[in-house]
Amino acid sequence: MNFKIGVLAGDGIGPEIVEQAKKVLDAVAKKYKHTFNYTAAPVGATAIDQTGNPYPEETHQVCMNSDAVLFGAIGDPKYDNDPKAKVRPEQGLLAMRKKLGLYANIRPVATFPSLINKSPLRTDIVEGADLIVIRELTGGIYFGDKGRSEDLKKAFDTCTYTTEEIERIVELAFSYARKRNKRLTVVDKANVLATSRLWRETAQAMEAKNKDVEVDYMFVDNAAMQLIQWPKKFDVIVTENMFGDIISDEASVITGSLGLLPSASVGIHTSVFEPIHGSYPQAAGKDIANPVATVLSAAMLLESLDLLEEAQAIRDVVNKSLDEGIVTIDIAADGKSYKTSEVGDWLAKNI
Ligand code: IPM
Ligand code: MG
Repeated sequence: MNFKIGVLAGDGIGPEIVEQAKKVLDAVAKKYKHTFNYTAAPVGATAIDQTGNPYPEETHQVCMNSDAVLFGAIGDPKYDNDPKAKVRPEQGLLAMRKKLGLYANIRPVATFPSLINKSPLRTDIVEGADLIVIRELTGGIYFGDKGRSEDLKKAFDTCTYTTEEIERIVELAFSYARKRNKRLTVVDKANVLATSRLWRETAQAMEAKNKDVEVDYMFVDNAAMQLIQWPKKFDVIVTENMFGDIISDEASVITGSLGLLPSASVGIHTSVFEPIHGSYPQAAGKDIANPVATVLSAAMLLESLDLLEEAQAIRDVVNKSLDEGIVTIDIAADGKSYKTSEVGDWLAKNI
């Protein structure tokens, strides 16, 4: 079959890791007789440099006209230490999420047996942990009214949610839980926040229609603690935008392998698939970054196109590379490591 894939490589290591994922996708295309037509478009700091806009309209059109989008990373240190910068690369990411209606960010967190010793947590705590964090992505404090007083001595950000916004993501979370171990944890701060009380009320009202899934509710501070103490007790977590931002980063280090974890952002228009790590500017152009999170994001992308066997082929070859030690320096065990491009070549060859 023919598929149109938008490629938004972005900043820092984005271009080099996306390149490896494309190699692997091309190998899949060849083996399973598909055609992937890629259209590249700028985003983030790269797009600001080229057009002044971190998510230009042309890039949006590329996304809208694609079957799926593969995304690298955005962010550039030249903006980080300048709180006064008028345009920032991150605005491009937020604009993309909003305009594509990507209301759910899905981050599977699983441990890789050969890398279990990389986790900062004890092996007996993390071994076998397997959970998904589903983060609301287009509402809450990220998108509410914000501003500064005239004398600049006061600033505010507003958190807003509607019942509809909560329902659609909790519904999605139920459907994920149903396909897994049928446990859903709704994370909120209902003891303090009105929006959290609406989340809890809405989710509780949905329980009756989802009786096959066991639901529990947890305050976010407690969830942050339990995630580290007993990661194995979680199956699917659903939460609002800002809590999800924090909890999903926390969840990712349980495995000790930030460079291996993929994510999907799904919603109304074209879905976007991207590694959970950032643009790692210190490594840009050095051919040392770990391409696996992006390669596994490509597997999630194929799954979204219903190419299940193809997605599994990617996961299998990644597992094989980890077992055989064909890995980049960040996870190399015995001093022997490979370049980003060498890992990509090996994965493509072994598909
Ligand atoms: C993420 C990132 C973004 C976010 C930043 C870069 C704006 O941390 O995708 O989790 O906060 O959503
Ligand atoms: Mg984040």
